[in-house]
Amino acid sequence: MGINDDDEDMTSQPFLFVPKETAAHEARVALVPDHVPRLTAMGWAVHVAGGAGASAGYGDDAYKEKGATIVKAGHEGYEQADMIIGVRAPFSALEEHGETPPPAKGAYLCALFQPHRSKALDFCARHAMSAFALERVPRITRAQSMDVLSSQSNIAGYGAVIFAAYHLSSMMPMMMTAAGSIAPARCLIIGAGVAGLQAIATAKRLGSIVSAMDVRPTVKRQVESVGGTFLEPQGLEQDAQQGETTGGYAQEMTKDYQKKQQALLKDVLPQQDIVITTALIPDKPAPTIITDDMVKTMKSGSIIIDMAADAGGNCALTKPYLTTKAHGVTIMGQSNLASCWAYDASRLFSRNITDFVACMFAHTSSSSPLTKETMDAMLCRDDAIVSATLITAKE
Ligand code: NAI
Repeated sequence: MGINDDDEDMTSQPFLFVPKETAAHEARVALVPDHVPRLTAMGWAVHVAGGAGASAGYGDDAYKEKGATIVKAGHEGYEQADMIIGVRAPFSALEEHGETPPPAKGAYLCALFQPHRSKALDFCARHAMSAFALERVPRITRAQSMDVLSSQSNIAGYGAVIFAAYHLSSMMPMMMTAAGSIAPARCLIIGAGVAGLQAIATAKRLGSIVSAMDVRPTVKRQVESVGGTFLEPQGLEQDAQQGETTGGYAQEMTKDYQKKQQALLKDVLPQQDIVITTALIPDKPAPTIITDDMVKTMKSGSIIIDMAADAGGNCALTKPYLTTKAHGVTIMGQSNLASCWAYDASRLFSRNITDFVACMFAHTSSSSPLTKETMDAMLCRDDAIVSATLITAKE
């Protein structure tokens, strides 16, 4: 029996499906129970795969209490969905499901498409799906509540410090005890975007001495405002100082900048107990900032947490998702730290995606409700946020 064979009145009510995430190391869920009523009020029949929220701390009963239907066989959800919302584009689950019956033909899919964007895109194109990549939500004021990169980076930045503090064999704060004094840990954050700033603030709150670097000189004040010392390469040529695009993102730096940044790192790395790297350049591999030779100069027992591991890593020795040891230094390729705090990360993600779905169908009202038949016509394609995220359209 299909999901709704017993309810004729709902034939034109569009189905929104929340799958169980299948990517390795992914504990989050795209929708939490508290946000189900908002989607129902928009006109969606919300279907959640059984156990989809379990690893994040949200049980099936909690979804049911809020009005969602639990779909025991995940493929039913895919087959009948008009809209799939996921944390990560669920191409692997769809592929496993096979080609018959065709999954979600013509459906909309909202999720993060990185880091497997080309596979996911290929899948969407073959199944005539419209793909909305949430990492492309523009960083404009109106879109702040839909900004999944920020909400998840914020949690990941906090998580990186907690992770490092747990694995470090020394203490974070300074302590003066009758048995002797403990020096505070030194923490260096490379890349002071959303994750980096949260890492600085968290490391500072735990009592360590924090410094940070970034190619965008504009972040100096933000670093200082959360308690970090901003380190800048010295003696840069004029054109090597411009690390920011007009959109506010980092860009690839000149050879002169890279040389001076390396000289600075050679001075500061040997003093650090924890190094957290977050440096990313949109649509490009992450820059290699810490070389093998630099790791050799670091203290034995120190830790590098490379949050850019998925994009190639900021440390030459990083292995994505793995913890390795080189020259006495522990190197953690932690790309998906937000998933380790899945309860709160899912709650923020869910708010982001619910607001995004509301933005997609902003003209829905009681006199013009959302139905399977009207969905395409009601999609706000010209909205700047929706159009920026639409990476494959079904036509
Ligand atoms: P990101 O995750 O793309 O990169 C992390 C950081 O690494 C950035 O600060 C970047 O400048 C830095 N970086 C890149 N290459 C580097 C290198 N070689 N050495 C050192 N640092 C390097 O950044 P995120 O967190 O996504 O933020 C990007 C921009 O978006 C920022 O300007 C941020 O303020 C802005 N933003 C705006 C929002 C809004 O207006 N709603 C919300 C969130 C972010």
